[in-house]
Amino acid sequence: MKDAIRRNFDVSVGSYEAFESETGQFAELAERLATVVDDATGDLESLLDAGAGTGASTRRLEGLAEAVVALDISWPMLRENPAGRRVQADFDHLPFGNGSFDAVVFTASLFLTPDPDRAASEAARVLRAGGVVAAVAPQGWTTADGRDAFADLSRDSRSPSAAAEVESALAGRFTLETGAWTDEVSAERLRRFHSIPAVAARLYPTLPPDERVQEARALLADVEGPLEQRWRWLIGRQA
Ligand SMILES: C[S@@+](CC[C@H](N)C(=O)[O-])C[C@H]1O[C@@H](n2cnc3c(N)ncnc32)[C@H](O)[C@@H]1O
Repeated sequence: MKDAIRRNFDVSVGSYEAFESETGQFAELAERLATVVDDATGDLESLLDAGAGTGASTRRLEGLAEAVVALDISWPMLRENPAGRRVQADFDHLPFGNGSFDAVVFTASLFLTPDPDRAASEAARVLRAGGVVAAVAPQGWTTADGRDAFADLSRDSRSPSAAAEVESALAGRFTLETGAWTDEVSAERLRRFHSIPAVAARLYPTLPPDERVQEARALLADVEGPLEQRWRWLIGRQA
C-alpha cells in the first residue's frame, strides 16, 4: 500500500500545488498546528516536518526552529520543497539517530500511513527526552444537517488510517492533548480537492489517475454546500 501512496503523490504535484495556491488549505492547517506547537514549546533547535510535501507546512514550521528537516516518501513532492535539508524516507524507517529532534510535526500526513503505530514509535525514537510530537488528521465533511457528505454516495471516503487510529497510536507513546477545528467549505472546494489524484484515490484506488479524478468529479457533482470540514489536532510530549 505504501508504494501506491507514494506513486499517488508522485503524480499529484501539479494539482496539489494548484489546489493549495487557490485555497491555502495546507498553509492554514500548518499555521494552526505551528501555533499549538509554539505555545507548548517556545524556540526549538531542531524540527522534523514529517510528510512535508511541496512545502506549505515547511514554510511555516521554519519559523519555529533553527533547523528544519523536510521528509517525505515522494521525491517529486519534496523536489518542490524549499527546505535546506530534504530527505526522501518513510515514516516507518526514519533515517535519523535516537534523540535527533526537539519536535516532529505531521501536517495532514500521519493518517496516510497504514501503520500509524509504527510511525509513532519511530517519531518517539528520534525525539529527545521531553520532545514534542504534533499531528493534524482529517475527520471528513458533513452537510448542513450534520450528515456525512458521502452518506448517500456509492463510495466511502476512507483514509488508510482514521483520525481515531492516529490518536490511539500517539496516545500509546506520548501524553496527549487534542482538539478539533471545523471549517465551512463549499461543495466546489470538495470537488477541487478531489481533482488531486492522491485524494481521489480515497474513492477510486484502482483506477488510473486521470480516470479516478473524472469519476470523483462525477460522483461529487450533485453534492451541495456549504459543508463542514472537520480536523482533529493532537500534540504530545515524550515522557
Ligand atoms: C496531504 S500532503 C501534506 C504535505 C504538507 N505537510 C503540506 O502541508 O502541504 C501529505 C504528504 O505526506 C506524504 N506521505 C504519505 N505517507 C508517507 C509516509 N509513509 N512517509 C513519508 N511521507 C509520507 C505524502 O507523500 C505527501 O507529500
